Amino acid sequence: MSDLFSKFDPLIEQRDTLLESGITDPFNLVMERVESPTVAICNGRRTILLGTYNYMGMTFDPDVVAAGKKALDEFGSGTTGSRVLNGTYEGHKAVEQALKDFYAMDHAMVFSTGYQANLGVISTIAGKDDYIVLDIDSHASIYDGCALGNAQIVPFRHNDVEALEKRLKRIPEGAGKLVVLEGVYSMLGDVAPLKEMVAVSKANGAMVLVDEAHSMGFIGAHGRGVSEAQGIIDDVDFIIGTFSKSVGTVGGFCVSNHPKFEILRLVCRPYVFTASLPPSVVATAATSIRKLMDSADKREHLWENSKRLHAGLRQLGFTLGTDEAQSAIIAVIMPDLETGAAMWEALLHEGLYVNLARPPATPAGMTLLRCSLCALHSEEQVGEILGMFAAAGRATGCIS
Ligand SMILES: Cc1ncc(COP(=O)(O)O)c(C=O)c1O
Repeated sequence: MSDLFSKFDPLIEQRDTLLESGITDPFNLVMERVESPTVAICNGRRTILLGTYNYMGMTFDPDVVAAGKKALDEFGSGTTGSRVLNGTYEGHKAVEQALKDFYAMDHAMVFSTGYQANLGVISTIAGKDDYIVLDIDSHASIYDGCALGNAQIVPFRHNDVEALEKRLKRIPEGAGKLVVLEGVYSMLGDVAPLKEMVAVSKANGAMVLVDEAHSMGFIGAHGRGVSEAQGIIDDVDFIIGTFSKSVGTVGGFCVSNHPKFEILRLVCRPYVFTASLPPSVVATAATSIRKLMDSADKREHLWENSKRLHAGLRQLGFTLGTDEAQSAIIAVIMPDLETGAAMWEALLHEGLYVNLARPPATPAGMTLLRCSLCALHSEEQVGEILGMFAAAGRATGCIS
């Protein structure tokens, strides 16, 4: 019998070597207690959280928590069914209405995760004879959606408008075309030139889907994302998003003005063949989304945090993923996995949690320490974070 696990041997070996060096496993950290969106207890000590997607700090919002408790009491712990059978409660309709109001769009469809939203929408609208033109650095859920639908995948160089145009022009006349983009790319925290890309896509007869997972709530005057900030939200056919980041719970969605959009509820397999979100989750999401509509002050503070951290890290001598702060994600580029893991651990000992990101999740084989800021990080915390980076960076030789 051949062992189907033997293909993982190189990865097992790499992991074992890393752990044998005595380092804490960066992919197995337990948060023993979470005190707030910015502080948790890890390994018995107070740790500042700089590696969550809790951009708008909604997880402990009293109104959000109260809505979840009320729904748990009134509707129970779960729906035990698909949205198209017994799994649609009034809370599911209410969160879809909150999304329609948030984005000022005609239709909203909620999935059990953002992963499933990409999987479902992309695989359902683009099939075997259609072409999906996508940024090479797209999220795994986008690639998996393309694979599930069996469409022809045409990748182009990251954020390169000319490359996108060239690929579009090579697609046979009359074929179905979907361009898939992200507002903020989560590894380096860089923003897409959506204005130019959407214009090129439309000029070449393609529909456009934008995943705004890392920009919802924060970027744009109303927090609708990069499409809003760049003034082209009305030209985007489908926006995908998640409740697992700024909204502060779990779930995914697609919003659109397409007149035939509602048919997706009957033909989209990752929507039909899975259980719907629990009532407490949709209640927290709806409350959070409505509060995010009115969060201009928090957005401003988050921008200040992001700019302050970016400038401070650069001044310390770290190499960063972007020339300036473009989002709430700031990526610190490490020379290799070993140094990255050592720096990650040194930061944890200082009392700071960041994400260690490595290939295949990262572009160009990079190892990154990914910092994601929260609107609830105080100015003092950002100062503390910079002090921790300075100490850990010197201890590991990352900076002099
Ligand atoms: C760009 C992007 N799209 C989709 C997702 C999936 O979101 P979820 O956590 O809701 O499955 C993520 C998650 O990290 C993401 O970064």
